[in-house]
Amino acid sequence: MAFPASFLDELTARNPIEDVVGQYVSLTRRGSNLFGLCPFHSEKTPSFSVAPDKGIYYCFGCHKGGGPVNFIMEIENLDYPDAVRFLAKRAGMEVPEDTEYRSTYRKQERLRALSKEAARFFRAQLFSPAGKEAQQYLLRRGVSSQTVARFGLGYAPDGWSSLLDTMQKSGYTKEELLDAGLVLQSKKGGYYDRFRNRLMFPIIDVRGNVIGFGGRVMDDSKPKYLNSPETIIFNKRKNLFALNVAKKSKAGMLILTEGYMDAIALHQYGFDCAVASLGTALTEEHAQLLAKYTQQVVLTYDGDEAGQNATRRAIPMLERAGLQVKILRMKGAKDPDEFLKKNGADAFRALLQKSENQAEYRLQSLKNKYDLHDDAQRVSFLREAAELISTFSTVVERDVYGRRAAEAAGVTPEAMKQEVSNAYRRRIAREKKRQERVDLDLNAQQQPKEKGIHYDNLRSAMAEEQLLAQVLKDPVLLPEVKLLPEQFSSPLLGRAFSLLLRCQQEGRPVSLASLEGDFTPEEMNHLSSVARRRDALISEQAISDCCNVIREAYGRSVRTGEDALRAMQQQFQHKKGYGG
Ligand code: CTP
Ligand code: MN
Repeated sequence: MAFPASFLDELTARNPIEDVVGQYVSLTRRGSNLFGLCPFHSEKTPSFSVAPDKGIYYCFGCHKGGGPVNFIMEIENLDYPDAVRFLAKRAGMEVPEDTEYRSTYRKQERLRALSKEAARFFRAQLFSPAGKEAQQYLLRRGVSSQTVARFGLGYAPDGWSSLLDTMQKSGYTKEELLDAGLVLQSKKGGYYDRFRNRLMFPIIDVRGNVIGFGGRVMDDSKPKYLNSPETIIFNKRKNLFALNVAKKSKAGMLILTEGYMDAIALHQYGFDCAVASLGTALTEEHAQLLAKYTQQVVLTYDGDEAGQNATRRAIPMLERAGLQVKILRMKGAKDPDEFLKKNGADAFRALLQKSENQAEYRLQSLKNKYDLHDDAQRVSFLREAAELISTFSTVVERDVYGRRAAEAAGVTPEAMKQEVSNAYRRRIAREKKRQERVDLDLNAQQQPKEKGIHYDNLRSAMAEEQLLAQVLKDPVLLPEVKLLPEQFSSPLLGRAFSLLLRCQQEGRPVSLASLEGDFTPEEMNHLSSVARRRDALISEQAISDCCNVIREAYGRSVRTGEDALRAMQQQFQHKKGYGG
């Protein structure tokens, strides 16, 4: 990471964590810390904390944490250097750019400008004589001129180099156009336009940059859609079509569709909260992106088998991001675009209002799975339905859906109720047992919550956490820690310790915020949880106790290492003895 340390320190000093976070989260003071509703997961009671004295934030609920740069990375969806630039701008500071960063950043900026200009070109083409057919196509599909303007739709002319020539005249090179995914190179080495005779949908990120395109044919030829490839500014896993518009919606939800045309039609019919994935399956990154803007997502995937499978896959992913998921199902139309054309906005609004939560959806899919005229299948259905219903969290839900399942299978509500309550008891017993196992397993409890971070020696790691927590609370204690970073059993904690030592030597602030560039966001999440340990005692005695535990564990590991080495040597000599 190549920003100079002195610059980063000033950046941190001029962007106090409580101010930076305060622009996104409303915070209330509680003692020396501030609390608010976590912007990274949905919650009703605040578990998101800001510790101004430590310069960090940490959520006790979802375990995200870090300094101001990490916060901006997370909330603005930026990578490290861009988050630094963002904060520099906020504080009115000049960024001393490292040449490598400068060159990739410049390249990205250049591609963003190029893409914007390409979008302008396509738009102009749509309104030129060449775009007549495309205009007629839009008219035929009922896309209004207002919609065309809002989404910046355009037309790629039917030639091999229309865009190429225009852009070159504007000073962009062939290589740049290739990097932007707008031209292709033939085997002979010639360059030609990727998008030809297609209706063009610019893909715009949440900050308003054109980052790629989708292009649709206007007849039945294949492929129906062509999309920009992944480029240094276009990542399909992290972007959603129309989110730049939908993020401003006041609807209190986001509607997720499969197609560009579905999202566009929804907007035109007044549903300004529609977004579409970019011709790829929904990813965890999409789910997290959605969760930044809403707490509720309505899935309106196509009614075909593929769409239903996609729905089933998407539900747990969205739920993991803390989102409440509803499923909207249409009859007599394959997708929202078709539905709206046939039935209008009011009909869709009615569907939206009664869009099923997943309880209904799951019960319905279960019903579809079985032939309820067959006795044996009916019994299986009831058993599975009872299992499902027993997971619903309220008595009312269990009652309502229990009655519905009973009716579907033709048994009495009482019989069903009995089945559900048996299933409920079995499940509670199972869960209790599992909980007991977890409770017994101290190891599982004390291991880092963050995936991918694991402690090999828990006893030592706990002492290491304690040490770091104390030192971060009161940096004057750092010299009391008479240890070498190698003696830490956890490489992550050891590295943090050694970097803090270096901060101290260089006269930089001894704080986690000073280390933001040295760790991945996941590592920072974990280090923030360490810094926010509520049980950190501060005293020289506590420090020396921790040091002893760590030294002892280290000594043992060295001895074990030496023993292993000796054993290996012996074995080796032994073998030599045999052989020789
Ligand atoms: N898609 C794609 N490549 C294809 C077909 C589809 O990338 N060959 C993606 C596009 O993002 C498209 C989405 O999958 O928007 C859904 O496909 P489909 O339902 O066929 O598209 P619609 O948006 O409904 O388009 P239309 O109504 O114009 O047929
Ligand atoms: Mn369609």
